[in-house]
Amino acid sequence: MNTSTRADRKDFSVPLLRGQRALVTGANSGIGKATAIALGRAGADVVVNYVADRPAAESVVKEIEGFGVRSYAHEADVSQEDQVVGMVSRMVDELGTIDILIANAGLQRDASLTDMSLDSWHKVIEVNLTGQFLCAREAVKEFLRRGVVPEVSRSAGKIICMSSVHQIIPWAGHVNYASSKGGVQMLMATMAQELAPQKIRVNAIGPGAIKTPINRDAWETQQAEADLMTLIPYGRIGVPEDVADAAVVLASDLLDYVIGTTLYVDGGMTLFPGFATGG
Ligand code: BGC
Repeated sequence: MNTSTRADRKDFSVPLLRGQRALVTGANSGIGKATAIALGRAGADVVVNYVADRPAAESVVKEIEGFGVRSYAHEADVSQEDQVVGMVSRMVDELGTIDILIANAGLQRDASLTDMSLDSWHKVIEVNLTGQFLCAREAVKEFLRRGVVPEVSRSAGKIICMSSVHQIIPWAGHVNYASSKGGVQMLMATMAQELAPQKIRVNAIGPGAIKTPINRDAWETQQAEADLMTLIPYGRIGVPEDVADAAVVLASDLLDYVIGTTLYVDGGMTLFPGFATGG
């Protein structure tokens, strides 16, 4: 078997992420699950984080192990500092280090402004924004400790913040969620600026409407799907694999010079489709 890594090569017979170790938060369903599987297929060892539904996380692990890489499930609430610290330190113990963090765990608790409880506000900010801060902080400590290992990757580590088109599109009825994603954009950009000199690459992915449990209401009925389509120039709802494949390439050395950007994976949702015929 060819055991070389892919770093600094343009040899497409070697999997893009061979020899790298990735942590994916919220990896038991939706975009996180598809991304964890895609990273495994691309040759990375993968820690599958989840907060509930261990059987689902274990089945993601099984699928990833099928690619001949290492994987295990780890329960942790990303908004809890001690749990995040424990998750990253176990990863360093078991897999040796961390090369890629996909800060994906996130949730919605929707309500109009006047109906939104402080609890719903806090919960969404804590998981979607504070969770990404905590995971990034712990991953970066390890990136800095280890530094660049040229046989593995040209950079000392990669962070991909899973954001949303709603980091720039205001979203009535979802003020906590949109605010959390606006925060993720600035968290990402600030970390990218701070960490680029240490050879750490921080970027974000901004998914649009992707068919997952988080937005079932938006595509479940024919009418809902037709309404949604007016917001998507490309004419189809995304699937988790659309985002997962983007994450693999963004985490790989193919995009080594890409720092501090958001890659929108949205079928054109951020292109103000309402203006195609008006304005
Ligand atoms: C939200 C989905 C929504 C999509 C497009 C995502 O960030 O989680 O519920 O369908 O943005 O509006």
